[in-house]
Amino acid sequence: MSEHSSRDVGGSGFQPRSDLPIGVFDSGVGGLTVLRAIRRAMPAESALYLGDTARVPYGTKSSESVVRYALQAADLLVERGIKLLVVACNTASAVALDALRERLRPLPVLGVIEPGAAAAAKASVNGHFLVLATEATVQGRAYARALHARRADAVVEEIACSLFVALAEEGWTDGPVADAIAETYLGSARHHPHGTRPDCAILGCTHFPLLAGPIRRAVGESLAIVDSATTTADAVCAALDEAGLGRTTRQAGTLHLMATDNAARFARVGAAFLGTEIETKDVELVDV
Ligand code: DGL
Repeated sequence: MSEHSSRDVGGSGFQPRSDLPIGVFDSGVGGLTVLRAIRRAMPAESALYLGDTARVPYGTKSSESVVRYALQAADLLVERGIKLLVVACNTASAVALDALRERLRPLPVLGVIEPGAAAAAKASVNGHFLVLATEATVQGRAYARALHARRADAVVEEIACSLFVALAEEGWTDGPVADAIAETYLGSARHHPHGTRPDCAILGCTHFPLLAGPIRRAVGESLAIVDSATTTADAVCAALDEAGLGRTTRQAGTLHLMATDNAARFARVGAAFLGTEIETKDVELVDV
């Protein structure tokens, strides 16, 4: 913990201001899918995004490392000045949310697991869920806990699909390679005995929405597919309203992008996630 940030945030001197940006943090470019949903839902809000590209992937790291990385990234965003932190990374949300909340209090901190689980709990009829995520998220069982808290009848099967992260970053989101990998991870989901078959799949990783096509073909077209981006944006909107921190202007908010390594790659790969071109010169390289 840097003394500087805990003094800035945890002390009584923290003054939330509606004109400050929303801070969004992810292990790399994946959280840009969440940022995109936030900007679509709240165009007047400014955002400060940090992708920890020097240390991605988080999904195969130990929870101790992920907590340490997440706290360092949050410190940087807080030092820049934010009014709310969105942990747009499923792995960091699964593993580091409590540590972040404790460290940053009273700054509001939102993860992507609760909103995703809430949407899935509504979407499922039979209460059987398939959670697709990174190894670390699966090991942490955060989705299972969040689903059980909402539905006592929940039956949760979690599958680590680590290769999907590389596929999405490579842009191989459709075609025979993506289909073969999706089938290998998920094909068995179609063959559960009748009555125990999941009717809802949660895309519990920032990268997986890009592979929705192959995933859908592998798990079966009848499953509801839920991802956290839109529901997290709704949760951010509600949290800002509740804290009286939403911007009321009609002017469009600004966006500032930061990465801890390789701005050119962040810009090139990130464009598919953000849904709009990113110029390398618009990505600030930072050190956490
Ligand atoms: N952002 C991560 C997640 O949502 C995926 C990439 C990684 O493993 O760091 O879990």
